[in-house]
This record gives sequence, structure tokens and C-alpha cells, in this order.
Amino acid sequence: MEPTFTCSPNLGKQERYRLFLTEYVPFIEGECDLIPALANTAAALREAFGFFWVGFYLVHDDRWLNLGPFQGPVACSRIRKGHGVCGSAWAESRTLVVPDVDAFPGHIACSGASRSEIVVPLISDGKVLGVMDIDSDRLAAFDDDDRIGLEAVVSHLLQNLRQ
Ligand code: SME
Repeated sequence: MEPTFTCSPNLGKQERYRLFLTEYVPFIEGECDLIPALANTAAALREAFGFFWVGFYLVHDDRWLNLGPFQGPVACSRIRKGHGVCGSAWAESRTLVVPDVDAFPGHIACSGASRSEIVVPLISDGKVLGVMDIDSDRLAAFDDDDRIGLEAVVSHLLQNLRQ
């Protein structure tokens, strides 16, 4: 398969997400199996944005998140509900943008190089299925443009999984 995701670091963030969605939406259309969809979403985001770590944790037995498909350095296998940024985003059912992970109480450091983070919950029919987690090795790498762009990515991902 030809690479389909453009890396365009000179564009503004909103433009980059707009461009990413034009490539991602047709790519992910019709992919209704969870693991292949998550794996290719992580790879596409890494290719387009060069994120330090991008991947998914999936809800397991209502108390734990288990590591799912990801791109980047090895990571923690399990995170308890309400713990760390991922477990908090799950418990609160909302996106968390963390400009400085050292200032987040209970942050779980899978890699010492991680400086900032964004976690977007995957919510279907009011239930959290898991979270998308993205880490940067720079402080304050994520803002509201990332939140809006990544929530749009997750929304397209879930739309296909429901079909
Ligand atoms: N930092 C996360 C743990 C997952 S790794 O970043 C990949 C957290 O605090 O939940």
C-alpha cells in the first residue's frame, strides 16, 4: 500500500488536521474491526504528525485499561480507572490536555522523555470503550486545536466501528 498520510510541518495545526482528515476519512471508511482500525489510526497519526508516542488503551473489566495498538517506545501495560492521565480521562469521560506531565497529580511516566500529553476518550452510546493517548517530548505541545482535531479523528473512527 502506498503511504497516504502527508507530513506538513510548515502548515498551521488547524490546516494539518484538516488535511489529515481528508486523507484519513476515506482510508478508515469501511474498517469496522477494532484492532486493525486502531493500529492503522496510530500509524497514520504518527506518519502525519511525527508524535513521540501515539496509541490506545482499551477498557478491560470496568476497572482497568489495557494497552492496545500503538506506535512509539514500549509503554505501561495496564492503567487503573481514575489513575494517571488516561485513567482520569476515562473516569471523567472527557478529553484531558496536559501541558506539563510533571504538574499532573498521579501522572504515570511510561517514558521519562514524555513532557506533555493529550488523552481523548472513545465514547460509544455513552460508554467509554478506551482512550487515545498521545505524548510529546516537548512541553505544552497540545492545545485546543489538537483537542478539536483529535476528537474529530476519534469520531470518524467510532462511526466506522459502529457500522
Ligand atoms: N502517561 C499516561 C500513561 C500512558 S503513557 O503515556 C503511554 C498516563 O498518565 O495515564
